[in-house]
This record gives sequence, C-alpha cells and structure tokens, in this order.
Amino acid sequence: MRIEIVEGDITSRHVDAIVNAANSSLLGGGGVDGAIHRAAGPELLEACRELRKTELPDGLSVGSAVATPGFRLPAQWVIHTVGPNRHAGQTDPALLASCFRQSLGVAKDLGARSLAFPAVSAGIYGWDAGEVASIAFDAVRRFDAENPDSGPELVEFVLFGQPTVDIFRDALEA
Ligand code: APR
Repeated sequence: MRIEIVEGDITSRHVDAIVNAANSSLLGGGGVDGAIHRAAGPELLEACRELRKTELPDGLSVGSAVATPGFRLPAQWVIHTVGPNRHAGQTDPALLASCFRQSLGVAKDLGARSLAFPAVSAGIYGWDAGEVASIAFDAVRRFDAENPDSGPELVEFVLFGQPTVDIFRDALEA
C-alpha cells in the first residue's frame, strides 16, 4: 500500500473512492461534506436519503462508514464516515481510528484500488490536524499489515492548505 500526501480539493481526485467527512444525518453539511455533495450532484443526497429510509434509519454512527456511488464525481464511490466531534466531547482516538479502518474495509469490499481521505474531524469537528494525521497513518498501516494482499494499493490524504500538508508530511515521516 502506497500512502501519498496531496494538497488540493478531494472532489477533483481521480481515484476509485473518496472518503467524505460526513455527519450522522448523512444529509450533507459544510466543509468537505458540502463540497462533495456539490460536486457529486443531487443524486448523492437522494442516495443518502435512501440509506436513511432503509439500512440506516437512525443515521450513521460515529466511527462507521458506508458507501454510495460518486455520481458526477470522478471517483466511482463516496465512502461516508462520521468523525468524532471534539466540541461534543467525543475525544476518544479509537473513534477516529475506526473512521479510517472502517473506510478502508468498505474500500476493500468494493474492490477499490485507490482511495482518498480528507483530514477527517480536523475541521468543524475541532480535532488537531497533527493528532488526526498520526491516528490516520497508524490505522492505515495496521490495516495494511492485516490485509497484505487486499485493500487499496494507493491511499491519498488530500489536504486543504499547505500548513495541513506540512503537518501530515511531518507525521508521515515521524
Ligand atoms: N477537499 C479536501 N479537504 C477539504 C475540503 C475539500 N474540498 N473542504 C474542506 N476540507 C478540509 C478542511 O479544511 C479540514 O481540514 O477537510 C478537513 C475536514 O474538515 P470538515 O469538512 O469540517 O470535516 P469535519 O471536521 O470532520 O467536520 C464534519 O462538518 O461539513 C460538516 O457535515 C459535516 O457536520 C459534519 C462536520
């Protein structure tokens, strides 16, 4: 598994699946969630509403992940995950590690060969980007060790702004 750090807009990435930093409602929001819904088009919200009517009547729990098609995005799939919200007292790193691990598991089940993550919880949900980075890389490495011959071959971290890129680059080398 190759890990790459990229500066830019995750909605423009030509990978098999991109991960959305969603909220439990799955009905859209700001940040990367808003950007993904805008780029994917209204069918994405329809697909999320369908999930709420069927598999996920109570919404998606923190640390879980679920896939929908990517519709107008270059990516074939969107894997929605709900990060812990520090402002709501959700400070357990295991919850955030679960977002990355569950998203990788969904990507593996889909047969996605390339996957792009944003800095889940490092925006509106108030987590420190450095902490997110170290939790993310640890989760990806563990997944790779447990799934040596399956799962995505390429995992990108697509970050907004050079400061966050630098924080992730430092964490990757640490
Ligand atoms: N591409 C890549 N990264 C992005 C993009 C984008 N288009 N837009 C924002 N980001 C970055 C932010 O700068 C931040 O570093 O993604 C990271 C995650 O930020 P948020 O999108 O705020 O996600 P999060 O902190 O997990 O908060 C989730 O925000 O958008 C709502 O509905 C969402 O309620 C949920 C909450």
